[in-house]
Amino acid sequence: MLGRAKITIIGGGNVGASCAMWAASKELGDIVVLDIPNMEDLVKGKMLDLAECGPIERFDSSITGTADYKDIAGSDVVVITAGIPRKPGMSRDDLIQTNVKIVKSVSENVREYAPDAIVIVVSNPLDAMVYTAWKTTGFPTNRIIGQAGCLDVARYRTFIAMELGVSVEDIQALLLGGHGDDMVPLPRYTSVHGIPVTQLLSEDKITACVNRAKVGGGEIVKLMGTSAYYAPASGVIQMVEAIVRDKKRILPCAGFCDAEYGVGGYFVGAPCLLGKGGVEKVIEIELDGNEKELMNASISHVKDLVGVVREAFPELA
Ligand code: LAC
Repeated sequence: MLGRAKITIIGGGNVGASCAMWAASKELGDIVVLDIPNMEDLVKGKMLDLAECGPIERFDSSITGTADYKDIAGSDVVVITAGIPRKPGMSRDDLIQTNVKIVKSVSENVREYAPDAIVIVVSNPLDAMVYTAWKTTGFPTNRIIGQAGCLDVARYRTFIAMELGVSVEDIQALLLGGHGDDMVPLPRYTSVHGIPVTQLLSEDKITACVNRAKVGGGEIVKLMGTSAYYAPASGVIQMVEAIVRDKKRILPCAGFCDAEYGVGGYFVGAPCLLGKGGVEKVIEIELDGNEKELMNASISHVKDLVGVVREAFPELA
């Protein structure tokens, strides 16, 4: 590809601004961060501040803040982070009524101003927000993706690495399902430089890492009083990089699964091949009885969440 990719991030809060920072530091393309009109000066200031790192960090990206949707025209990738984050005591699901309205309105603008973009949704509850963006934009399913698995598996890999005292780089792992506390990290598909983790850690220790990853978002909310942003943004940019550099990476994302895993037409976390076409393929892996049971429970939670959206917003049914 000649020329730079254009990456738009909707929502200039903690997640959006962190996305911009990771994208700039990797020089992935030109970056536009859009926020609502009463945040216009703040987002413009933040992005000017970030642009002024260029000479030190050595990136030539153009970085701008805006409140005008016209500025997202021609985006290759649009990341939707808009919405309210959860507070202590809230589950991601508690955000649904508010965030579906926000994501719907953002998606209408994306459809109008960036009709060819690949859309990555980050807002929570993730699985319902991906559905909302899909129904609203009407984009083909390969161009609608949810970020959850990259974050969740990164947490799981971090905890395994901490437990073993080895480099995080050497932990390979797989995770399926929705972005709720019933997500499905898979110890049977976890290895340490190719060595099955089951040969290096006891079952109890692996289970502790799995359980900590499942409630990893809540652990941060409890500590900070609001939800995480560095790692969620890092997960987003891992996906953006795979797309704009057409890397054909296999990353855990909320991709559209129909026959896959017997899902029947919902966005659910699964290994996805990401390249310039967005989700170029959803990869189905073999699951044993217990893994299938966990996956089915997670899928049925995703369906319940989508059911809430359909009921409250019949136009999205
Ligand atoms: C988390 C939120 C962003 O898992 O869903 O931290």
